[in-house]
Amino acid sequence: MDKPKVVLGVSGGIAAYKACELLRRLTESGHDVRVVPTASALHFVGAATWSALSGHPVSTEVWDDVHEVPHVRIGQHADLVVVAPATADMLAKAAHGLADDLLTNTLLTARCPVVFAPAMHTEMWEHPATQDNVAALRARGAVVIEPAVGRLTGVDTGKGRLPDPGEIFEVCRRVLARGATAPDLVGRHVVVSAGGTREPLDPVRFLGNRSSGKQGYALARTAAARGARVTLIAANTALPDPAGVDVVPVGTAVELREAVLTAAVDADAVVMAAAVADFRPAAYATGKIKKKEDREPEPITLVRNPDILAEISGDRARPGQVIVGFAAETDDVLANGRAKLKRKGCDLLVVNEVGERKTFGADESEAVVLGADGSETPVPHGPKETVAETVWDLVADRLG
Ligand code: CTP
Repeated sequence: MDKPKVVLGVSGGIAAYKACELLRRLTESGHDVRVVPTASALHFVGAATWSALSGHPVSTEVWDDVHEVPHVRIGQHADLVVVAPATADMLAKAAHGLADDLLTNTLLTARCPVVFAPAMHTEMWEHPATQDNVAALRARGAVVIEPAVGRLTGVDTGKGRLPDPGEIFEVCRRVLARGATAPDLVGRHVVVSAGGTREPLDPVRFLGNRSSGKQGYALARTAAARGARVTLIAANTALPDPAGVDVVPVGTAVELREAVLTAAVDADAVVMAAAVADFRPAAYATGKIKKKEDREPEPITLVRNPDILAEISGDRARPGQVIVGFAAETDDVLANGRAKLKRKGCDLLVVNEVGERKTFGADESEAVVLGADGSETPVPHGPKETVAETVWDLVADRLG
């Protein structure tokens, strides 16, 4: 089989060096990558580097190898075009259809999915001109990844960093897997909770659970690749931030509830993949609880935590908001799942069978998605991303 053809456009920003890592990931995973830098990108990383890493010649102008008509051919034959970093200037040119070099010509001739990973200073990103350009590109079906927040060139920090190359690679992989299917969550805001809450007993101990957060992160990543604005509420996870996703870290169930209620206000969908502790210790010891040599330990009294899923399902922040819950069951999986769906009042419930080595911490799982309308969608054993894609298919159907 032919390798998928990817065009990596690189525009002139300091983050161009990070595109080398993206290029390496793409080639090592079996993609045929043609790098098309702009002239200013070559000030940051030279043509020799792009050529050696991609195994293809590199040019920036339409005047090289004119007999091969590269300004048309490269775009026409691509399965995916990804521009990383995309500067404010590149976004403006792409939004307005300018074509004054090889990359901008390629963007006009490409009929495949296009991903932009912007990187610039916060002021440039927030400028209404840039935001209008981003909106125009998204409206045309391009996936524009939100920049990450963090250290920028020099000493300043803010929104505008190029996301981690590994995470841009994940977006590319998801977009390529969807082929010509247009991103169907463009203009939607989705909220995903992930991980497991920790309920503190004292400054060093907590009651927790074994959720890794991988399913929630897969949901966030796939939603971003389908064009959604994503808020990921992450409870005690140790995973890299998915590209283009706003991550809100939380600890306890009460903090998770606050974050979910805040983010849900303008959300089209909320997916509760987090494992939320049903109970928390009634008392928190401000000093470390010490063992007493001559006495048995004190029992721990627990009190109920709020049921966030039931609360947001019963009192929707917006009409038509789609709410999805997860259920981990060990016995009578489907019957327990149906009863839970009803009890919680959500639209969809993803039911996983859990056991010693199943689901928790694993990269793969299998599930059945139960709908409040009586539907049952089995998801065969596979990567957690497959469960995530099925959830978004069902959510997109319900959003209409
Ligand atoms: N959940 C929640 N708030 C809680 C507990 C759970 O929002 N306090 C959400 C989880 O994020 C998940 C779903 O509810 O989406 C299922 O949680 P689970 O604990 O399995 O449901 P329970 O009703 O507590 O049932 P069980 O008796 O099996 O614990």
